[in-house]
Amino acid sequence: MSRIQQLYPICRDLPFPGVYLAHDLRALACSRHGPLVYANYVASLDGRIALPAPDGHLGVPPSLANERDWRLFQELAAQADLILSTGRYLRDWAAGRAQEILQVDDPRFEDLRTWRVSHGLSPQPDLAIISNTLDFPIPKVLHAGGRGVVVVTSEQADPGKVQALEEEVGPVIRAGRSHVEGRALVDALYARGYQLLYCAAGPKVLHTLARDQVLDRLYLTLVPRLLGGERFATLAEGTLLNPPLGGRLEALYRDPEALEGLGQLFLCYTMGKDGSTMANALRSSAH
Ligand SMILES: NC(=O)c1ccc[n+]([C@@H]2O[C@H](COP(=O)([O-])OP(=O)(O)OC[C@H]3O[C@@H](n4cnc5c(N)ncnc54)[C@H](OP(=O)(O)O)[C@@H]3O)[C@@H](O)[C@H]2O)c1
Repeated sequence: MSRIQQLYPICRDLPFPGVYLAHDLRALACSRHGPLVYANYVASLDGRIALPAPDGHLGVPPSLANERDWRLFQELAAQADLILSTGRYLRDWAAGRAQEILQVDDPRFEDLRTWRVSHGLSPQPDLAIISNTLDFPIPKVLHAGGRGVVVVTSEQADPGKVQALEEEVGPVIRAGRSHVEGRALVDALYARGYQLLYCAAGPKVLHTLARDQVLDRLYLTLVPRLLGGERFATLAEGTLLNPPLGGRLEALYRDPEALEGLGQLFLCYTMGKDGSTMANALRSSAH
């Protein structure tokens, strides 16, 4: 088993797989009596999260993607009731460019399936698809075996497409007038019984959550590389956030083994005005 160094709020070595499972987001959500919205990104030093692939489509480039980041992404996804994704994900799926978000059928993540089942959860969290255009097919495999697929759109969505989707996967949520709004999205999903919402979407959805101050936790993997480029995606895209959404550092880890010894940092922020509950808990457990 490999190790990782925690640098904040206390310095110690930890066994590597399990670092984010130990954040125990389900217990945190229980203590809040409300929804917990969390997101995770892998970014370069110059803030790139996606670059054009040779076919022109934006995707996470091989210079950022790495197995150790992917493992922690999976640990966060495993703790969710529902994963937030987008119409772009289903278009990528239809074009053969996308995969399952939580990969419980991959033998490397077998322990995460066991973890979910032992916590009384189905092997896969449900999936929310955020979209205005509703321009996508829903692959049968995504709602096979009873997994819920919830489509979330705005009041401007095409009524014919809404009806077709409702016949296929059930009621479509309208959460906003001209586009999906963060607060309406989270409230509607919480009302349906989803408490832990994991955002696996890109910069427009993160902006949607940040603008309405409904993002609780931001996990960021910082890969120490400058990528440059003129066409790229970064973490949040949309109008200026005024006021900006601040984050309080909860935990910082250095992963010296990643990227053939280049290393990377894992950061976890509590967003908004919330107190630093985990940092406090870790500090007191160290005494
Ligand atoms: N490095 C990383 O950690 C990381 C993480 C996530 C994503 N990414 C990359 O980032 C790129 C962009 O990802 P993405 O397309 O999922 O992200 P996105 O920019 O958040 O979402 C794009 C699509 O989502 C829908 N959407 C977003 N916000 C909406 C709103 N408020 N109301 C209604 N619809 C809304 C729209 O779908 P419709 O067009 O269907 O209306 C829009 O085209 C991808 O290349 C992805 O691989 C990287």
